Amino acid sequence: MKLRILGAAAGGGVPQWNCGCGNCTDARAGRIAPLTQSSIAATGDGSRWLVVNASPDIRVQLAAVPALWPRELRGSPLVAVALTNGDVDHVAGLLTLREKTAFDLFATPEILGELEANPIFGVMSPDLVRRRPVPPGALFDVAGLEVESFSVPGKTPLYREAGEVKTEEVGEMTVGYALRSGGRTALCIPGCAAITDDLDARLRSADLILFDGTTWENEEMPRLGAGEKTARRMGHMPMHGPGGTLERLSGLTARKVFVHINNTNPVLQPESRERRLAESAGWEIGFDGMEIEL
Ligand code: MLT
Ligand code: MN
Ligand code: ZN
Repeated sequence: MKLRILGAAAGGGVPQWNCGCGNCTDARAGRIAPLTQSSIAATGDGSRWLVVNASPDIRVQLAAVPALWPRELRGSPLVAVALTNGDVDHVAGLLTLREKTAFDLFATPEILGELEANPIFGVMSPDLVRRRPVPPGALFDVAGLEVESFSVPGKTPLYREAGEVKTEEVGEMTVGYALRSGGRTALCIPGCAAITDDLDARLRSADLILFDGTTWENEEMPRLGAGEKTARRMGHMPMHGPGGTLERLSGLTARKVFVHINNTNPVLQPESRERRLAESAGWEIGFDGMEIEL
């Protein structure tokens, strides 16, 4: 199996259009690498590709990878998209994939329902873009991979929030995918609010995890003045602190890579103390173009 991180950033990217934080400023000045928004490509046969999440940056992401270029007048090695949630950073790129090429669109019935409820997604004509409802627990084969969908604690998309928001809901709104080929398992979990027992067992038997790296600490955005919400309110586990990813996922044998990294996260600075701490806990910081062969 081959995987490629098309975009390692969380929603907004690095730099984010309206953000003057240290990381965004450094990315504009070329001092740190810019990052596009959350997407991962994978193949089990080296020819057909599954893309996990269609980010708003998908047009430039596909253009940057020769393996994903068309091989004929019209067509694409991208044969399927699988969604982990209905957030804008994971679905807006579907609008770019509208130019009359067939592919399969895998998502839970609830997430497909969110797309269905919004007529703009009708531009992906249903006769070409086949909606494939896959509830958590479903197994399917695509791009030479055996794929399993599983529930991950999370919340409803921001644009659907109303009243009191449950941030650690286990159901159909947030999922991860296990990708299997040649006896190896990769887990794609770009958004995760908490580690359940079920998730813990999966993580412990995987060979590779691509995991939610949104923020370093829970209070990161409020502390910086970049926003009011904590990581946990946004449905994301912070890396550091009590119950954070570094603590919860110590002792895994899998290769561990952070993806969906917010532009405020200090691990994006190569010389930072936070980066050193994450790396000494065995984590790699994902970047656009990162290739992994399993
Ligand atoms: C998130 O991951 O928290 C969302 O992408 C936020 C958003 O919709 O902007
Ligand atoms: Mn996101
Ligand atoms: Zn920023």
